[in-house]
Amino acid sequence: MKLSFAHSLSMIALAVCVPLAWSAQSGPGLKKEDFGKTSDGKQIFRFTLKNPSGMEVKIINYGARITSIKVMDRKRKFDDVVLGFDKLAGYLAENPYFGAAIGRYGNRIAHGTFTLDGKEYHIPLNDGPNALHGGTTGFDRRVWDAKDVSSAGGPAVELHYLSPDGEMGFPGNLNVTIRYSLGDKNDLRIDYTATTDKDTVLNLTNHSYFNLAGAGSETVLTHRVMLAADKFTPVDSTLIPTGKIQSVAGTPLDFRKPTRVGARIDSKDEQLKLGKGYDHNFVLSRSGDLMVLAAKVEEPSSGRVIECFTTEPAIQFYTGNFLDGTLHGNGGVYRHRSALTLETQHYPDSPNHSNFPTTVLHPGEDFHSTTIFRFSTE
Ligand code: BGC
Repeated sequence: MKLSFAHSLSMIALAVCVPLAWSAQSGPGLKKEDFGKTSDGKQIFRFTLKNPSGMEVKIINYGARITSIKVMDRKRKFDDVVLGFDKLAGYLAENPYFGAAIGRYGNRIAHGTFTLDGKEYHIPLNDGPNALHGGTTGFDRRVWDAKDVSSAGGPAVELHYLSPDGEMGFPGNLNVTIRYSLGDKNDLRIDYTATTDKDTVLNLTNHSYFNLAGAGSETVLTHRVMLAADKFTPVDSTLIPTGKIQSVAGTPLDFRKPTRVGARIDSKDEQLKLGKGYDHNFVLSRSGDLMVLAAKVEEPSSGRVIECFTTEPAIQFYTGNFLDGTLHGNGGVYRHRSALTLETQHYPDSPNHSNFPTTVLHPGEDFHSTTIFRFSTE
């Protein structure tokens, strides 16, 4: 079909006008929409948090997951910088915890077994001989209650889940609340709170996969990463910590100065071979201080930057080594090493290592931890 000049002009006008009209309608604030139903008929909602500069974060109450984070590059172009899906089906199907809330216990528990107050507990195994991210059905696959808690400070959504005593083998009824708030300075703040009625163990995190060039971009190997960690916890062949807390000095795990992810990822280092790349727990040198920069990631072509602040003592830095191009989402195909995670956390397998900071939560205690991801451009 041949288009007339006038027709072409009107098509161009439409293409320019539609996004403008849309953005005029969707100013800062919070929007809630239906996002489908789970196989057992539970309604899932998607919340869109938008700030005055146009940064937008989408969250669903299935797994309390972040499904999209749209931020500007240095030319003021918005892209989605996290791996995700725009349909619930993607999340209901097999996927490696895209954007999910992780609990009760983030990362691995060796053989799914630990002892607390003299009693042995067993978590169903889902990662070779170990339990990963809370066992076969973790918080990433639960339906959370959600409510709008926006305030003058900006749009916010609060998600709540009651994990019953014995769920996935963990003791105690655990009440967990996660609040996502978007500030004016392009800072996404995640507050975790929890209480229990029996002694239990807890390690909560968020499993967003970032690619600052835009989700679906080839790799993250050109991203420059800084991790404010003098030490890390080396792992065995099943990625369980050996119990040592080792200096990063002189190893390819030294990210104290900004370094390209790809610079050393394939070097002949025993730990990198075991992790198939970076998949390690970095011990933050200034643990627990929300005012101190814990990690920074910069992407040279877009100029996008993430700064991470946390009250947690450590970060699992994972370079998407198990992504293999079979999943296709918002941004395209999710290839090998096409994203990285900054999972702020306690150390993996802490319940089995008395030299690691404790992850035990007692009745009467209020658990609270905060992580902030602040986005900017260079
Ligand atoms: C783990 C990886 C794992 C990934 C997705 C990360 O937290 O450290 O080993 O493959 O989560 O499950």
